[in-house]
Amino acid sequence: MAQLASVPSLRGLPVVGNALRVPRDRPSAYFEEVAARHPGGLYRMELPGRSVLFVYDPDLVAELCDESRFYKPVDAPLSTVRDFAGDGLFTARGDDPVWGQAHRILLPAFGQRSMKAYFPQMLEVAEALAAKWARSDEVNVPEDMTRLTLDTISLTGFGYRFDSFRSAELHPFLQSMGNALTEAMARNRQLPFVTRVKRRADEAYRADIARMRELVDEVIRERRAAGARTGETDLLGLMLDAADPRTGERLSDANIRDQVLTFLIAGHETTSGLLSFAIYNLLRNPQVLAQAYAEVDRLLPGDTVPTYETIMKLDVVPRILDETLRIWSPIPSIGLAPYEDTVIGGRYPVAKGSKCVVLLPPLHRHPKAWERPDEFDIDRWLPENKAAHHPHAYKPFGNGERACIGRQFALTEARLALALVLQRFAISDPEAYRMEIKQTLTVKPDNFTVRVRPRRAAE
Ligand code: HEM
Repeated sequence: MAQLASVPSLRGLPVVGNALRVPRDRPSAYFEEVAARHPGGLYRMELPGRSVLFVYDPDLVAELCDESRFYKPVDAPLSTVRDFAGDGLFTARGDDPVWGQAHRILLPAFGQRSMKAYFPQMLEVAEALAAKWARSDEVNVPEDMTRLTLDTISLTGFGYRFDSFRSAELHPFLQSMGNALTEAMARNRQLPFVTRVKRRADEAYRADIARMRELVDEVIRERRAAGARTGETDLLGLMLDAADPRTGERLSDANIRDQVLTFLIAGHETTSGLLSFAIYNLLRNPQVLAQAYAEVDRLLPGDTVPTYETIMKLDVVPRILDETLRIWSPIPSIGLAPYEDTVIGGRYPVAKGSKCVVLLPPLHRHPKAWERPDEFDIDRWLPENKAAHHPHAYKPFGNGERACIGRQFALTEARLALALVLQRFAISDPEAYRMEIKQTLTVKPDNFTVRVRPRRAAE
């Protein structure tokens, strides 16, 4: 057997470890900077109360993605997010039967057939974005993409209208969600007694959670008041009516509440980041932008209304999304832990249950797996090139059975929104925006505004 080796480690101070070095507003960027100084593909860092192994070498990640050896642990920060997302799919423990029940009940709502059924509502919301942009000169991209994705998941999933494009301010739900996520992340970095003494922060946190729950209750109440139309196949319909095909059990009211809140959060933050990063990449890569316009003009000439079938014929637009998710992954890391004491890479010991974090940005740019890793090259996603990719060097949607259930939903929604924007608008950024990342649980460009002109007028 090969000799065991110790993992490169950042020891840090007693008790707090390296917490004081990790910037509050951009922890992932810091973990990535440390990764750049550790080309071996992994390092260990002490954080308050725990020691974390960060991994980004594709071959080591391949081992971590072996579901017979590793599982998704629901510890910090997800254990704190449980304060409001409870036993929703994202934060439920994999060994809790309620995760399997909800997963099996909800899976049919995420297949291709459901995407086709959601399409008219997705289009309605995308048209609301286009109508707003037609009236605007300059737009804040992440804010409008957040309006789009929040309205889309709530309308398609729950039949609930936020009507976000009617208001100059973002919906108060988003404010409460942002505050609660920020506080959850802060709690993750501080010792428990600090959390206990910060009374005011705790009161604000509870108030934000209460406000989010009020909205969720309203969403459920509206559906029930609408006459409990049985047979609805959207997310809420399935949760209210369907039984788990394996156990025959239904979801409890408390669990439905957790799931609605989970979908409202998980179903919009990430897709909004993806669309914002995609527009950023297009502005930085005019040749790709020209290719995208050419494709959209061919498939959606003039005022052609997009259909599900046309959106599925797109080829350049989805490759832009794939490459955007490689360069800028809205979820910057996923957590895993081994069932038993184990060894990875033939020499690094990992203790049973200990926290491992796969850092997606350095994995997605790892030179072992990617040629010219910093280059935005959509041809990597041509079928002939895709087949040659390292099988574990691209994980924007996570891994295995705990991977994203909403992947098709996100990609359908994003294809449509990007195609509609390209059909209608000439986009430019005269201010030459420089990327500034804002992080909560996900990452997004901050203060990213662009100029939009109706294309017909511009031509
Ligand atoms: C899980 C990424 C869109 C719902 C995940 C995970 C990732 C991810 C990385 C795994 C997290 C982990 O291992 O802890 C993304 C990205 C998206 C996106 C990059 C958009 C570009 C969506 C959408 C929905 C959604 C649109 C819902 C409509 C969920 C849920 C889970 C999840 C419920 C938990 C699944 C489970 O553990 O059973 N997502 N997601 N996501 N995502 Fe997404």
